[in-house]
Amino acid sequence: MSGEYQQAYQRSMTDPNGFWREAASLIDWYTEPETIMDDSALPFSRWFAGGVLNTCHNALDRHVDAGRGDQVALIHDSPVTDDRQKFTYAELRDLVARFAGVLRSVGVGKGDRVIIYMPMVPEAAIAMLACARLGAVHSVVFGGFAARELAVRIDDAKPSAIVSASCGIEGKRVIEYKPLLDRAIELADHDPGRSIVLQRPQAQAAMGDRDVDWAKAMRSAEAADCVPVAATDPLYVLYTSGTTGKPKGVQRDNGGHAVALRWSLPAIYDVGPGEVMFTASDVGWVVGHSYIVYAPLLTGATTILYEGKPVGTPDAGAFWRVIQDHQVKALFTAPTAFRGIKKEDPDAALLADYDISSLQTLFLAGERLDPETWHWASEKLGVPVVDHWWQTETGWPIAANLRGLEPLELKAGSPSVPVPGFQVEVLDVDGSQLPAGEEGAIVVKLPMPPGCLQTLWDDDERFRESYMSRYDGYYLTGDGGYLDEDGYVFVMGRTDDVINVAGHRLSTGSMEEVLAGHPDVAECAVIGVADSLKGQVPRGLVVLKAGVTRGEDEIGPELVALVRDEVGAVASFKDVAVVPALPKTRSGKVLRKTMRQIADGQDAMVPSTIDDATVLDTLRPVLQKG
Ligand code: COA
Ligand code: AMP
Repeated sequence: MSGEYQQAYQRSMTDPNGFWREAASLIDWYTEPETIMDDSALPFSRWFAGGVLNTCHNALDRHVDAGRGDQVALIHDSPVTDDRQKFTYAELRDLVARFAGVLRSVGVGKGDRVIIYMPMVPEAAIAMLACARLGAVHSVVFGGFAARELAVRIDDAKPSAIVSASCGIEGKRVIEYKPLLDRAIELADHDPGRSIVLQRPQAQAAMGDRDVDWAKAMRSAEAADCVPVAATDPLYVLYTSGTTGKPKGVQRDNGGHAVALRWSLPAIYDVGPGEVMFTASDVGWVVGHSYIVYAPLLTGATTILYEGKPVGTPDAGAFWRVIQDHQVKALFTAPTAFRGIKKEDPDAALLADYDISSLQTLFLAGERLDPETWHWASEKLGVPVVDHWWQTETGWPIAANLRGLEPLELKAGSPSVPVPGFQVEVLDVDGSQLPAGEEGAIVVKLPMPPGCLQTLWDDDERFRESYMSRYDGYYLTGDGGYLDEDGYVFVMGRTDDVINVAGHRLSTGSMEEVLAGHPDVAECAVIGVADSLKGQVPRGLVVLKAGVTRGEDEIGPELVALVRDEVGAVASFKDVAVVPALPKTRSGKVLRKTMRQIADGQDAMVPSTIDDATVLDTLRPVLQKG
């Protein structure tokens, strides 16, 4: 390969200051940064120190000031409520400024945290941008998480206010959010101040003393101006699953984030000002933060906030209709969505009903893209299908095919090449670099480019320990894989106990904590097993306490209900087996990886340190069922 990509990549490695200084010129600064990259205190990097900006100004006001106020900034397309709404940059700026005034009136100021627990309504993006406007730190919690998960995040982020809605809509079902919110506040130790609640027509939430009605508050709100913040001040904290039950609060800055995302949209996604991007994800995930809200708006593009699924409401042609109606140039979603469409409409017959000629590229990420789905989507859509790899921690792609910079060859099973700024290597257990084709731990050499996590919220030690301690000088991605002879990255899966269910990252640890809390359970393990639709689904294995006479028929459904209540429906925890014992090493460590391999029909390496090999033999039929 040669040309634009290679040049950009080399420059980002040999002259990171020059490369990112140039990218920073795409952003409006109140004070230009003095330093571009400060790597004097690695593993902590500081980007654009001395720079002062406001992310909301860059996402909204500056486009209005430049005379583009009438361009559509955001389209809410909601087949589940049969509603479509368009907001121009000027309208969105005004709503965000007013909502920032509401937040200020309930005491939110610079540096304060605000939890946003909302379905896919435009007010979710408005609330995020309003926080950015005030220099407050938002923390969006995905609506599919239950009260206990929300409570854990309230206690960690210690918000000054919460923004929520009366309900979300899942297919034809109305899911009430307010009872979950109230329960979470009850469970949490921290008092989160006022709850601002958007009443939706599908369900009226009962309001209490701490609650503020969104619509009423907006009527009397005074618009708030953008508050200048330091480039290194936090913009948001987004919780993601680690290996334990306690989620990790990924903290992102204002300056590095704005520069990286603004650079990435045209370079990777080939989307520029005035063009339409449709990211079918949820604002509760990093993909939603970066490519529903921030990158398109920082670029002056039009973004689609879609409330619905790729199938079901009304059918597997849902995405094609959105592409046609809004002249979408780039579609970004998870492979699961395409597996869902393929399952419902294997020949993609519904495509014939729509004109999707505006679509130039399909981008997929969030989980491994199986070659079969890649081939199917490429053939049916007739556009390049670009797999790209990234994580909540990085905030934007580590590896991609940079369509705007230089389209490269696409290879099935690979998210292509390292993105400028990311020095990707594959290391062996002893830290030595592995040659092309050999699988090991995928790492990124420090310093990472702008836009990546600064630290974990209020927990520098966990940041070091989780990501920076395994290999000195490297960020541990937690993914395993290899590089091929051409430098293409192949990501094969997590090397830890994080699982990916329908593109949703979940911790088996948090499910195990719930199972362990059942009075009849002595010990348990949750592993991710392969699933043809969702990529992976969790499977629970429990050992009952001595003397418990009730069996799997009774206890199984109780455990399924417990995980649904405490972690949330999104865990898709539906499969639990009662087993006589769990396989362990002599030091008592449960052999989750070995069980996972057996369940997936792979050749499992049974460790020599296993306590009792016969336990695995008795488990084999349970693990291999289905
Ligand atoms: N609020 C409340 N509940 C939610 C929710 C939300 N925001 N999101 C999901 N749930 C619920 C679902 O209703 C479902 O509940 P059920 O068990 O009662 O049916 C459960 O959580 C599991 O949801 P999901 O994994 O989405 O499965 P599904 O069967 O409803 O839909 C797909 C299957 C393939 C259509 C869907 O998973 C999909 O669109 N995946 C793409 C995911 C994606 O975009 N990921 C973002 C990363 S890029
Ligand atoms: P999240 O932090 O929720 O975005 O999930 C990140 C994880 O999803 C990564 O660590 C990978 O395990 C997985 N992932 C994301 N994109 C890809 C991809 N293109 N190929 C394989 N795995 C992916």
